[in-house]
Amino acid sequence: MACNHRPPCLLAFFFFAAIASAQLSSTFYSTSCPLAIQTIRQAVRAAVAKEARMGASLLRLHFHDCFVNGCDGSVLLDDTPSFTGEKTAVPNNNSLRGFDVIDNIKSQVEAVCKQVVSCADILAVAARESVAALGGPPWTVQLGRRDATTASLDAANTEIPSPKSDLDDLISAYSKKGLSTTDMVALSGAHTIGQARCISFRDRIYNETSIDSSLATSRQSNCPSSGGGDDNLSPLDAQLFGGGSTDSLVTTYSTNTARFFSDFAAAMVKMGNISPLTGTDGEVRLNCRKTN
Ligand code: HEM
Ligand SMILES: *[C@@H]1O[C@H](CO)[C@@H](O)[C@H](O)[C@H]1NC(C)=O
Ligand SMILES: *[C@@H]1O[C@H](CO)[C@@H](O)[C@H](O)[C@H]1NC(C)=O
Repeated sequence: MACNHRPPCLLAFFFFAAIASAQLSSTFYSTSCPLAIQTIRQAVRAAVAKEARMGASLLRLHFHDCFVNGCDGSVLLDDTPSFTGEKTAVPNNNSLRGFDVIDNIKSQVEAVCKQVVSCADILAVAARESVAALGGPPWTVQLGRRDATTASLDAANTEIPSPKSDLDDLISAYSKKGLSTTDMVALSGAHTIGQARCISFRDRIYNETSIDSSLATSRQSNCPSSGGGDDNLSPLDAQLFGGGSTDSLVTTYSTNTARFFSDFAAAMVKMGNISPLTGTDGEVRLNCRKTN
C-alpha cells in the first residue's frame, strides 16, 4: 500500500508498534509446555459434554477478564478478608460461572508443566475450545499473557458494558478497548449460546419498545414483572439489539453464517489482545484463585 500522507503513516506505525509490544505468539508454549493446549482442549470438551452451557460460561469468563484492565486473569481472583476482587461486581455477582472448571483445567495443566501456563492464557484457550466444542468457528489463539497480582472491582463495574446500555454506550465501551462496531456486533453473537437471568432483561421485555414484541411476550412467560423469578433462565439471543444503525449487520449475520463466523473469530483475537501483561510483568499463578 502506498504511503502518501504523513500523519496516517505515522499512525499506522504506532499502531503496529503497540501490537508488536504485546509480544503474544501462537507458539508461546510449543517448547515450554507442548501438552498445554491439548490438556485444556480435552478438559473443556469433557465439561461441555457434561453441560453444554458451560461452553458459554467459559467464553464469557474470558470476555469479563479482558474488558477489565486487560486479559490478565484478574476475574478469577477470589475475595479474601484483605483483598477485594471482581467477583462481586454487578455484572459478575451470581452470574459468572465456570470457576470450578477453570480450577480443574489449571490443576491438569500444572500436572503436565508446573507454573508455566498462565490463568489468563487458560481462559483464552478455554474460550476458543468452548466455541469449537459448540460448533462455532476456529481461530488461532495468541498466547503468552501473564497473570495480574491485582484486580479492580471498580473497573469491573464500569468497564463491562451493562445490559441497560444503549447502542451508543456499547459502541463507545468497545471503542475504548480498541474494538470496532463490527467487532461489537460480531462478539454479541456470543449470545446465541448460553442463558440470561430474568433480572438481567426484565426492564427490556416490559418497558422498552426497541425489542421485538413477540420476543418480549414470549420471554415474559418465564420472567414475571414483579414478585420474584429473578434467577429464572432464558436464552439470550436478540435481547441486546433492536432499532439502530447495527440492525443491518445483525441481519447479515443471521443469514450469512460464514460471515458471522469470520468476523466473530477475528474479533475474538482482537479481544484477546487487550492489554496483556507480558515479559516479566505480573506472574504465572500456581492457583488461579489467588496470587502467588
Ligand atoms: C455487548 C455488550 C454485552 C452485554 C451488555 C452483555 C450482557 C450480558 C448479560 C446481561 C448476560 C446474562 C447474565 C445473567 O443474566 O446472569 C450475558 C450472558 C452472556 N454473555 Fe454477554 N454481554 C455483552 C457482550 C458479550 C461478549 C463480548 C461475549 C463473548 C464474546 C458475551 C458472552 C456471553 C455469554 C456466552 C453469556 C451466557 C453465559 C452463560 O450462560 O453462563 N457477552 N451477557
Ligand atoms: C452478591 O451476591 C450475594 C449472594 O446473593 C449477596 O449476598 C451480595 O449482597 C451480592 N453482592 C453485591 C455487591 O451485590
Ligand atoms: C418500568 O418502568 C417504570 C417506570 O420507570 C418502573 O416503575 C417499573 O418498575 C418498570 N418495570 C419493570 C418490570 O422494570
